[in-house]
Amino acid sequence: MHESVSGLAEPGVPGAASPGARVATGKVRDIYAPDDERLVLVASDRISTFDVVLPTPIPDKGRVLTGLSAFWFARTQGIVPNHIIGLRPDGRSTEVRRLEMLPIECVVRGYLAGSGWKDYGATGSTSGHLLPSGMHESARLPEPIFTPATKATTGHDENIARDEAAELVGTDLFAEVERVSLELYRFGAAHASARGIILADTKFEFGLDRNGRLVLGDEALTPDSSRFWPADEYEPGRSQPSFDKQFVRDYCESLDWDKTAPGPELPTQVVEGTRARYVEAFERLTGIGFDEYLAAPEVVLT
Ligand SMILES: Nc1ncnc2c1ncn2[C@@H]1O[C@H](COP(=O)(O)OP(=O)(O)OP(=O)(O)O)[C@@H](O)[C@H]1O
Ligand SMILES: [Mg+2]
Repeated sequence: MHESVSGLAEPGVPGAASPGARVATGKVRDIYAPDDERLVLVASDRISTFDVVLPTPIPDKGRVLTGLSAFWFARTQGIVPNHIIGLRPDGRSTEVRRLEMLPIECVVRGYLAGSGWKDYGATGSTSGHLLPSGMHESARLPEPIFTPATKATTGHDENIARDEAAELVGTDLFAEVERVSLELYRFGAAHASARGIILADTKFEFGLDRNGRLVLGDEALTPDSSRFWPADEYEPGRSQPSFDKQFVRDYCESLDWDKTAPGPELPTQVVEGTRARYVEAFERLTGIGFDEYLAAPEVVLT
């Protein structure tokens, strides 16, 4: 682990080393810049559903996401280098190398869901991949496919054709991110499948380091960047329950809520059930007890 990581303390703790100025706030994460070379990504316990951040946090969700990402980073270095320098003792902050991020979201789909399913219904293809006719919702695709999207600064990311994406990043780099994304997906999907979880699709973000080398950034293979489905409930021909967010979705569907901000407060039972699902996802996928992670986050890196 990097020396300086353990030296950093909670943001805002008086007298503690500062993680630097806050440079951005996403729906779920806050980003600090200790210097020009590094960033600290702090994952909060905020949860969004139907693209609305709810007022009620899910305790430890940010730690689950941070630990899972780090677990995957440590295990995929043979496929592509990544940005992680180390984890902070709070288990929710990742110190990373600052990259020049590519302007595309690298989505890989192994199953037909979400916008892939929508595109298919309208055109029989998605991001330029012509798919077999007669496929059902949530069906497994013959092969995983790379379906890049633009990074929308507002609203939904938009699926784009392969040649558009190639134009945005250059032909050679496009070929490389496609190959690496598919390889990362295959690795994650095989690992998850052996543990009863289907990795239906996932999104990666890459950047270039100062030497122009391709590096995996952001978070990777977490419930927030992926669709995780419980394998024992999988049944094509309908939308699938989400491994992590289903209690929240079901609760929100039971209300007379129009799915625009502000979202509803969640009752304790929904919060507890959802926290348990996140912890279960962590433990199943990593094979590490969540308590062990809380005691010493670096355990996921070894
Ligand atoms: N190593 C890195 N160097 C530079 N930027 C990075 C690095 N890793 C991730 N990023 C960027 O940091 C930002 C993380 O923001 P975050 O995901 O919290 O919010 P967002 O993407 O703006 O919104 P959303 O909540 O919808 O994801 C993204 O813009 C991502 O591309
Ligand atoms: Mg993001």
